[in-house]
Amino acid sequence: MRAPVHVVYAHPSERSFTREVLDAFLGGLVDSGRPYTVSDLYAMDFRSELTPAEYARESGADVEAPVPEDVAAEQAALAAADTWVFVYPVWWADCPARLKGWFDRVWTVGFARATVGPRTVAEKALVLCTAGYDIAELQASGCYGAMRTVMLTDRIGERATASEFVLLGGSAGSGGEWPALKAEHLARAAELGRSL
Ligand SMILES: Cc1cc2nc3c(=O)[nH]c(=O)nc-3n(C[C@H](O)[C@H](O)[C@H](O)COP(=O)(O)O)c2cc1C
Repeated sequence: MRAPVHVVYAHPSERSFTREVLDAFLGGLVDSGRPYTVSDLYAMDFRSELTPAEYARESGADVEAPVPEDVAAEQAALAAADTWVFVYPVWWADCPARLKGWFDRVWTVGFARATVGPRTVAEKALVLCTAGYDIAELQASGCYGAMRTVMLTDRIGERATASEFVLLGGSAGSGGEWPALKAEHLARAAELGRSL
């Protein structure tokens, strides 16, 4: 059996387009028989701020210092998986603060940072985010490139052998195109799950 896919999901509401994207994607994984685990950061009430002790460990590159239990649990789920998937809405041209804080806390020295200790590597990382603007608008403003660079070059970087950024945009569009576009996005999310 293949290693599981680990999905990190960040949206506060159970009734949202982003939630539908998550469900479609997970449905695709089920169709293909791929095992998966999910960290639902709002449901878990995952803390997004570093404590002074965590800050001291990271800024001092103190690999001997323990990491908190919730961080260790996230790292264990990532290490057990060969593929990491991040599902979230674009908020102010980035991920929600809850997920940004997940990177702040979980990407610790010794686990994710290059200079000291082993660095966990996945075969693949997939970023699946929803946005109010459509992709052309986000490309024109420069936000698409900025978000893609921050997620794939900085946060994922060499921690995954391959990485992909998929933006499912246009939910704020007027003109009645959204229902058809939404159906297209959900079909794409399901296919991404099936073909992972
Ligand atoms: C606080 C907040 C900030 C947002 N900022 C952006 C943004 O910077 N760019 C964008 O395209 N959409 C933005 N949106 C729209 C969301 O990306 C969009 O509503 C979401 O991806 C899909 O809707 P959902 O909340 O039903 O999942 C924002 C929405 C909220 C609530």
